Amino acid sequence: MSDFEVIIYEKQNNIGYVILNRPQALNAYNLRMRDELYQVLGAIRDDPEVKVAIFRGAGERAFCAGADLAEFLTAPSPVVARQVRWERDIWGLFLSITKPLIVAVHGYVLGSGIEIALCCDIRLASEDAQFGLPEAGLGIIPAAGGSQTLPRMIGRAKALEILLTGRWIKAEEAYHLKLVNQVVSRHDLLPAAERLASKIKSYSPTAVACAKQAITRGLDLSLDQGLELEAKLGELIISSH
Ligand code: COA
Repeated sequence: MSDFEVIIYEKQNNIGYVILNRPQALNAYNLRMRDELYQVLGAIRDDPEVKVAIFRGAGERAFCAGADLAEFLTAPSPVVARQVRWERDIWGLFLSITKPLIVAVHGYVLGSGIEIALCCDIRLASEDAQFGLPEAGLGIIPAAGGSQTLPRMIGRAKALEILLTGRWIKAEEAYHLKLVNQVVSRHDLLPAAERLASKIKSYSPTAVACAKQAITRGLDLSLDQGLELEAKLGELIISSH
């Protein structure tokens, strides 16, 4: 993975560190980033040495300012540009990972930036973070799951307001909407994520993976089905001992 151009991926002490690395373009999500992220997510999923991952953005100004608008302009239309992105199901891959994913966002968190964050399990934001979904104003809709993951996280009314009006929200409001778990100073953003990661990685990977699945998969089930899922995952843990 050493030939990566727009993602930095490092492993240290059982933590996978993923950095979106196009700071000159506010880490806008382009096709190269999609391809590199696809490889990185596969590595996180398959590498037993990685117990938890932390995602963040390079540079001072943004986690990610959304899809690369320059690519939109060179493609025949935004619709075709979107189609190209779907050819690799990066979002399905994200959601299939049973290891905990922590995201630490700062600055602009727009479009695909929010969508990446919503595919992670625990979201930390620095005080300067600003969130927005500009898609409707560009004549498109989110294509990386945002129209589904956002209402599941913050509820229907607020998700509709943010998507339909394009209103940006600041970190404090994002916290009150339960879009992010914690707001911390910029200085403490990575250390706060590392404290969480250290705690999680000290636990049994099987228990952690089952706990994550029980909640994330269970939320899309009825209570009866969810309880059944919990029982099955519980049995799996016992049988693994
Ligand atoms: N795609 C491609 N390049 C982007 C980008 C994007 N989504 N967002 C920012 N950039 C680039 C700019 O083109 C600029 O490059 P340049 O220095 O070569 O001209 C650089 O990042 C800095 O951005 P700039 O617009 O100069 O910063 P700003 O502080 O004036 O404004 C934003 C910041 C985020 C408000 C503004 O860049 C913006 O609106 N970006 C687009 C957001 C968006 O609509 N995303 C698509 C969602 S689907």
